[in-house]
Amino acid sequence: MSEAVDRSKDQSARQQLIEMARHNIRVVKAKQIDQTEDVMRVPATHYYDQARWRQEMDRIFRRMPLMLAMSCELKETGAFKTMDVCGVPVLMVRDADGEARAFINSCSHRGAVIVTERSGKKGRFTCPYHAWVYDHSGALVSVYEEEDFGCIDKSSHGLTPLPIGERAGMIWVTLDPQSSLDLDTFLCGYDELLEHFDFANWEVFDHRTVAGPNWKVAYDGYMDLYHLPILHKNTFGSSMPNQAIYNAWGPHQRVSSPNPLLLELEDKPEEEWPTDALMSSVWTIFPHISIASFDGGGGRGVMISQLFPGDTPAQSFTVQNYVMETLPPNDEMHEAANEQFKLLEYVVEQEDYATGIALQRAIKHRPGFEVLFGRNEEGGQRFHSFLDELIACDDADLQALFEAKGH
Ligand code: FES
Ligand SMILES: [Fe+2]
Repeated sequence: MSEAVDRSKDQSARQQLIEMARHNIRVVKAKQIDQTEDVMRVPATHYYDQARWRQEMDRIFRRMPLMLAMSCELKETGAFKTMDVCGVPVLMVRDADGEARAFINSCSHRGAVIVTERSGKKGRFTCPYHAWVYDHSGALVSVYEEEDFGCIDKSSHGLTPLPIGERAGMIWVTLDPQSSLDLDTFLCGYDELLEHFDFANWEVFDHRTVAGPNWKVAYDGYMDLYHLPILHKNTFGSSMPNQAIYNAWGPHQRVSSPNPLLLELEDKPEEEWPTDALMSSVWTIFPHISIASFDGGGGRGVMISQLFPGDTPAQSFTVQNYVMETLPPNDEMHEAANEQFKLLEYVVEQEDYATGIALQRAIKHRPGFEVLFGRNEEGGQRFHSFLDELIACDDADLQALFEAKGH
């Protein structure tokens, strides 16, 4: 992309941020949020029916680009990260040309998982079973005791590559090796907004994994501010707003609350509106990411939650990544960042997910039950509508579906 085009995209994204802030100011003044047409009903079976869950795995998690890593996790040549995503072992690595690559983490000899560490840096990948060796491009470079093994065409026995793309300091991988869904079409321009975080230059402070309920029971909570002063009253929520303003780029949604602090910007020239104030709120990336901003004692940071379905409809796990603009420069700020992260982990595990685990047990016993998303819960409404559309969409129509959403 030429620099001129890049700059104009950047300007138009900033303009969108300003317009959203102006809308937020109007909402604050009018004391009236936008509402959807009607309350939405979703069959409770969608949260526990095995066939429905299978469709979600096949038609959503296998077909959508999934944000699996931050660019800063793969900074140098040979830096790698592995993950198990919906049963698929994924290996990501930065090659010598600076490109991020992804493969199924499985050897071409008899399929062993090649890299077992979560992350690190390697010049080559050597399979632990019989020592076949692969390079960063996934090419098979040597076969152990080749004369004994017999002759094979090494060039056709590399690792299976997965579609991968890098935007806004984040890396998306698609689990279906044959997927042709274009990443930019999928993102609907959302990455140009996310670019304003400048994540490529941030650092991962820490990460941990939290077990949770059905992935949608868990994810519903990330688009919902309605519950903040209620469920979280004993932790951070007692003075939090319960209202939300939703903005969407295709299925990707920003969730912000009416923010009286923005009123201070109103009379200043727009060039002076600080980017971090324009970026605060929760940014979700369909189908499974939430980015929530914090400015605690440890410095400016975001909690990037990656939700993944578990082995059954009733299970999920969330990788919580605490990502910071700069790592805390001293022990005191390190401790403050740690405390902030510990609180977030506690809130999600003991409040959100504990509620979700109990809720999903209860709804199974209510025949015909439908869960409700209010006129104030546009995020959940859009999310569940889009899931239904995607599940009904054949592979051949996928690209067109996103093209239509992006306009
Ligand atoms: S399975 Fe990898 S070398 Fe045999
Ligand atoms: Fe919550």
